[in-house]
Amino acid sequence: MCGARFVEKTPSSKILFERAKSVLPGGVSYSIRYFDPYPIYVSRAEGQRIWDLDGNAYTDYWMGHGALIMGHGYRPVIEAVKNQLEKYGHVGFPHEWEVRLAEQVSRMMRSIELLRFTNSGTEAAMYSIRLARAYTGKRFVGKFEGGWHGSYDCLHLGVNPPYDLPGSLGILPESLKYTVILPYNDLEGIRRLVRSLDLAAIVVEPVLGAGGAIPAEPEFLKGLRELCDELDALLIFDEVITGFRLSLGGAQQVYGVKPDLTILGKILGGGFPVGGFGGRRDVMELLDQLKRPDPRKRVFQGGTFAANPITTRAGYTLLRDLNENPEIYRKINELGERARRGIEEAFEKHGLTGYTTGLGSMIGIHFTPEKPRDARYAQLNRDLKLARSFFKHMLDNGVVYLTRENPHLFISVSHTREDIEKLIALAEDFAKTSSTL
Ligand SMILES: Cc1ncc(COP(=O)(O)O)c(C=O)c1O
Repeated sequence: MCGARFVEKTPSSKILFERAKSVLPGGVSYSIRYFDPYPIYVSRAEGQRIWDLDGNAYTDYWMGHGALIMGHGYRPVIEAVKNQLEKYGHVGFPHEWEVRLAEQVSRMMRSIELLRFTNSGTEAAMYSIRLARAYTGKRFVGKFEGGWHGSYDCLHLGVNPPYDLPGSLGILPESLKYTVILPYNDLEGIRRLVRSLDLAAIVVEPVLGAGGAIPAEPEFLKGLRELCDELDALLIFDEVITGFRLSLGGAQQVYGVKPDLTILGKILGGGFPVGGFGGRRDVMELLDQLKRPDPRKRVFQGGTFAANPITTRAGYTLLRDLNENPEIYRKINELGERARRGIEEAFEKHGLTGYTTGLGSMIGIHFTPEKPRDARYAQLNRDLKLARSFFKHMLDNGVVYLTRENPHLFISVSHTREDIEKLIALAEDFAKTSSTL
C-alpha cells in the first residue's frame, strides 16, 4: 500500500475515487490503472509531467500506456486537432487524413502495403487473426506466454500464469480451442508445439510489453519467420507498443525481419484512440470490396469511428514529425540505455537482487533472482513485495509508472537526462534502504 505521505498529499484524489466507486466498477475504467489505496486523478499534463488534483507533480513514465512518444501536449498535434475540429470532426465518410496517414505509415514501415484503421489495438489484433485464418484457411493461432494483444477472446490466454487458463471470466473454452501458447525466445520449444497443427498464424510482440519489456533475442524473430514460411502460416508482429517507438520503422526495422501482417496502435494515433493492421497486399486484399464484391467472399472490418478524422490527422501530424526528426530515436534510446544500466548498477552496488530489461525507450524492472529472458520466468519468480515497495518509493518521490507489480516504463522525447539521473538516484536510495532492512 502507498504510504501515509501519499495519503496526506492527495486528499482530492481520495474523494474522487470514493465517488468513482459508486459509478465505475472498482472506481476505474481499466483495472491496471488502480493502485491502493486509490489512484491519482490527473488535473494537468505537460511534457514529461502530470499533476494530480492537489497540485502534486509527478514525472510520468507511463506516458498514456506508451502512446505519447513526444510527451504530453505535443503542440503540433494540438494545433492540428484544433484546426480539424473547426473544419469537421467525425463524419463517417472517407476523408483525406485517413489516406495521408496510411501513406505515411506505409512509407515508414515497408512491410505494410495496405492497411486499415481501427479504434484500438484489441480490434486490430482481432481482425488480423480473422484475416490470417481466412487467408490460410487454417485454424490455429500461436501466441506467447506473457504476450498481450488486448482482450479479444482467442488471444486472452497465456498473458499471466497459469497460462492455460483464460485471462477473464466469460471466455468460452470453445473460443480458445484453436489457440496454442508458445514459449518466448525458445524456437525448439515452439517447433515441438506447432509441428502437427494447422497453423494459420503466429502473433508475437518483438519486445514483450506487458510481459515485462523483454526483447526477442536477435535470432528468435528470424527463426519464427522461417518457421512460418515452412508451415505456410502468417507471421504477425504486434507492434502496438514497438511501432514508431523503437525506430521509424518499428521493431521490424531494428530486427531486420519482415512480418506478413503488423498490428499497430498507441503512437499511431498521435495520442487519440487508435489501432491499425496492415501488411502484404495479397493478404489485405481479402478486405477489398472492389476486388471482392460478394461479402461472403470477403473479410469484414469496419466501425462507426474507424479512421476518424481527429485521430488520423493527429497520427499523421505526429508520424510526419517523427519521420522528419529521426534523431529523436537516438535521444530516447540513449536515455533508455542509461536508465537500464544505471538502475541495475544501483541495485548491484547495494546488493539488491533486481534487473532491468527492455530495448530503446522501453524499460522493464524485475525483482527476480536472475535477469529474465521470457515472461514465464519474470512472472513466476518475481518478488511482489519488493516491486510494490519500489512503486511506493517512487510515487512518494514524485515518479509514477504502471503497474505496481510489473514496472514497465516508457521514455518520451520530453524526458531529460536529469529526469533519468533522478530515476536512477531514487532506485539507488531504494536499494540502499531495502538492503539494510
Ligand atoms: C502489444 C499490445 N498489443 C495490443 C494491445 C491492445 O491495445 P488497446 O489497449 O489499444 O486495445 C496492447 C495494449 O496495451 C499492447 O500493449
